[in-house]
Amino acid sequence: MQTDFLVIGSGIAGLTFALKVAEDCPDKTITVLTKTQSDETNTKYAQGGIAGVMDFDKDSFNKHIEDTLIAGDGLCNREVVEIVVREGVERIQEIIEWGAQFDKDKDGDYALGREGGHSEFRILHHKDVTGKEMERALLEAIARKSNIKLLSHCFVLDIITQHHLGYLITKSTPDIECYGVYVLNLKSNKIETILASFTLLASGGNGQVYRTTTNPAIATGDGVAMVYRAKGRIENMEFIQFHPTALYEPGVRGHSFLITEAVRGDGGILRNHNGEAFMERYDERKDLAPRDIVARAIDNEMKINGTEHVYLDCTHFSKEKFTEHFPNIYEKCLSIGIDITKHMIPVAPAAHYSCGGIKTDEWARTSIKNLYAAGECASTGLHGANRLASNSLLEAMVFAHRAYRDVVAKTKDKPVHIIESSGENTINGVEVPNWKSEGTNAPKEMILITQSVKEMKLLMSDYVGIVRNNERLHRAMKRLDLLYEETEVLYEKTAVSPQLCELRNMISVAYLIVKCADFRHESRGLHFNTDYPAKDKMIQNIVL
Ligand code: FAD
Ligand code: SIN
Repeated sequence: MQTDFLVIGSGIAGLTFALKVAEDCPDKTITVLTKTQSDETNTKYAQGGIAGVMDFDKDSFNKHIEDTLIAGDGLCNREVVEIVVREGVERIQEIIEWGAQFDKDKDGDYALGREGGHSEFRILHHKDVTGKEMERALLEAIARKSNIKLLSHCFVLDIITQHHLGYLITKSTPDIECYGVYVLNLKSNKIETILASFTLLASGGNGQVYRTTTNPAIATGDGVAMVYRAKGRIENMEFIQFHPTALYEPGVRGHSFLITEAVRGDGGILRNHNGEAFMERYDERKDLAPRDIVARAIDNEMKINGTEHVYLDCTHFSKEKFTEHFPNIYEKCLSIGIDITKHMIPVAPAAHYSCGGIKTDEWARTSIKNLYAAGECASTGLHGANRLASNSLLEAMVFAHRAYRDVVAKTKDKPVHIIESSGENTINGVEVPNWKSEGTNAPKEMILITQSVKEMKLLMSDYVGIVRNNERLHRAMKRLDLLYEETEVLYEKTAVSPQLCELRNMISVAYLIVKCADFRHESRGLHFNTDYPAKDKMIQNIVL
């Protein structure tokens, strides 16, 4: 199959890009691939909202820029922060035009929320299901475009580069080029080759590398692992954001329900098992300190008291006030016997967001030619060492737009269907071979995969979590080495499946997190190593 533009991922980044290209280039084809159902994305689960300066009487671009820089703890790229904050407002207007609805107050103005690290009220939201509303609007707009093909249940295995043509590729090979992808079509169970002039990776996050995460099952870091295999540049993987308040449900591990930070923005108070509002002891901003500080404080309280969670106290809210903004959270808590007006909500930190990822420039270009990345899989320079709440939906839209601007500028002066196709698997004169699966057999025992996934999640949570030290990191690396070797052997002889590929990808991502953490001999933002508790001004971005 050949397409002008290929998009991997149907979350906010992928869909925004596809829509923009489709609108601007009605004569070109855009293919969007997604590995399960179209709307099963991190985007769908976003609760708190999207940050943007809307009330220029009280707020300003400068204030949003400063808040982002403070959260990023010295590692944000100021130029990128300015781009996202300033251009973000236009992107928000666009998604409103595409049909997304955000809550308004009784005067008809947007009802702006506040979250940790924000000095002003600037979070647009749709109740406590903002992501679901944005995903809905985008998918509906996509369905109206006849030149976009959205293919669900298509698992991308690898991006195709010169490596697949038989050349030896290393990190220092100049002009590594992306020709498209190999895809396991889960409906036909066949591996297909899709060639494209430009490919956008919008494959989301990697929370599933940890035992407890707010991310759904799709978040296995596939895009980052594929680019790493293709010898593209990856950076700052040590900065994993743990959300302070995932709902604690004994026995629930894989995908924890989030209690949005907006609840604390509206007055929710964190308490330990003695009922103490402990955040006062950790930071003057108390419950609304940036996430790294709140998550570490909770982790410390849990360790001191020997408990598996702390509490979020909302008992002072009226039912009416709470359900107006947080109906989904109210219902979820009630479904497990917690009436938030009477009982405190048990919460614990969970892996939530990857600040690092595929290194991109200000036009979303990766180090691989014709390959772009946007959204959570990308490392644009916006977040630095810690992401400010509700900045990621904004970043995804801004860089999807920038990727669109760049690819369209490159294709505008070229004829329609720029792929010069002389044969079925030929792109611009390059012959691309089909996927080779000779010598592989159906997996005999799934336990070989599922047990390795469990081991990996456990070691990442226990050794590479909120608080780290050198010994834990070294142990993690040794155990990952073994898992890697075993998985590669399995991969060589087994027919590919999403489970096997996700395991392989997660092991790569876990390795990258540990490697970057090991290189950072300091504590900064989300990376806290008790062997190096201070900051070191000399250490900037870690690029692998
Ligand atoms: P996603 O929305 O995750 O989409 C990834 C896509 O890639 C999916 O379609 C998936 O199927 C596809 N994909 C992945 N691998 C493959 C493969 N191998 N083959 C084919 N397809 C593949 N951010 C905010 O700014 N505000 C919030 O309020 C907020 N709340 C959040 C709440 C929760 C519970 C979570 C988990 C995150 C939240 N975030 C929030 C973060 C934000 O939602 C994500 O960072 C953002 O939605 C990521 O969008 P994306 O387009 O990059 O990826
Ligand atoms: C939340 O609603 O607390 C999550 C916001 C975010 O991750 O940006």
